[in-house]
Amino acid sequence: AANKKLLVLPGDGIGPEVMREVRRVIDWMDRRRHVAFDITEDLVGGAAIDARGTPIADATIARALEADAVLFGAVGGAKWDSLGFDKRPELAILRLRKELGLFANLRPATVLDPLVDASTLKPEVVRGLDIMIVREATGGIYFGDPRGIEILPDGTKKGINTEVYTTPEIERVARVAFELARKRQRRVCSVEKANVMESGLLWRQTVQALHDAEYADVELAHMYADNCAMQLVRNPRQFDVILTGNLFGDLLSDLASMLTGSLGMLPSATLGLADASGRRHALYEPIHGSAPDIAGKGVANPLAQMLSFAMLLRYSFDMEEDAKLIERACVNVLANGLRTADVMAPGCAKVGTQVMGEAVLRELDKLAA
Ligand code: NAD
Ligand code: IPM
Ligand code: MN
Repeated sequence: AANKKLLVLPGDGIGPEVMREVRRVIDWMDRRRHVAFDITEDLVGGAAIDARGTPIADATIARALEADAVLFGAVGGAKWDSLGFDKRPELAILRLRKELGLFANLRPATVLDPLVDASTLKPEVVRGLDIMIVREATGGIYFGDPRGIEILPDGTKKGINTEVYTTPEIERVARVAFELARKRQRRVCSVEKANVMESGLLWRQTVQALHDAEYADVELAHMYADNCAMQLVRNPRQFDVILTGNLFGDLLSDLASMLTGSLGMLPSATLGLADASGRRHALYEPIHGSAPDIAGKGVANPLAQMLSFAMLLRYSFDMEEDAKLIERACVNVLANGLRTADVMAPGCAKVGTQVMGEAVLRELDKLAA
């Protein structure tokens, strides 16, 4: 078979730091599991702005369209915060999602056993937690028209963004949630603000109709987004799959990450629709950003990026066994008491990004022996 084509986009801040450790795992897979990847690396975000004057070059988008999968780090930083929305680092990830048609962002929040004590919530509240957040990623208020800042006749200004969802946009992402639920606990909680927003009301009606027509075997509940945020902290284990729009999904997944111990633990997959030949665009990234406050210090947790690579193996290449191997290696390293600062606990050894990466490689060696 042809080598698997990967486009690797480390980005800014801690992006390149955590990606370096994953590159070593990819080399390990090549050496020890004979999985050959053709890897192209490119600039995105602030790094691309500095080198080329744009957060993502058209050539990079073209490479992403050609690749079997994209592994993305993180973008952004204070240096570029005064740029317009057509130039900012964040545009790199937004363009990739939009132009590759990556509408379904899967954000699993699972509490790994060794990290039960790392959560700011009580162990008995989070132990065994396993939630899948399905966040719509190419629509909603991130992309709706009109948008902009207008100057009114009296000289005051008006900032405008518009939440828009069409029935096909809602149906295709709801389908992803229902299909995932069938392989899990068969429960979907759909989250919006149908009490105040038309786009939310249409979301609720459309999800219910699709459920009744095709997924009646899955238990469907609806919840307002504000209540969902509260319920995630009160009793997170009531959830199996959470289905929601772009903005609420962004907020709720950062919130859910703290149930697992740290934002530095949560991976994600963003998937498009398969074409007639079964080929599907896909991008994998941690849900965290470039973490400017710790960038350059070598202390970032590389596990969200590692686990994103595991998701890549699972969803793009159907390599469940290899995905599990990486996930198990990460759990074992944590169980052995090695911790980056964000998940540090009494009695554990505090290590930096690189030592954590090396420990994962050692575990992989042991598991594959
Ligand atoms: P952030 O996710 O970068 O950081 C939030 C907090 O979590 C910080 O205290 C940070 O140190 C910590 N953190 C994040 N990842 C960590 C890790 N792996 N290990 C340990 N600690 C970690 O969010 P922010 O500070 O609001 O945003 C910083 C920049 O990143 C902004 O420019 C923002 O737009 C961008 N951003 C990019 C992405 C992306 O590229 N997909 C995602 C989120 C934010
Ligand atoms: C994320 C990030 C992005 C988002 C930003 C950087 C555009 O916060 O992936 O969660 O809001 O989708
Ligand atoms: Mn986010």
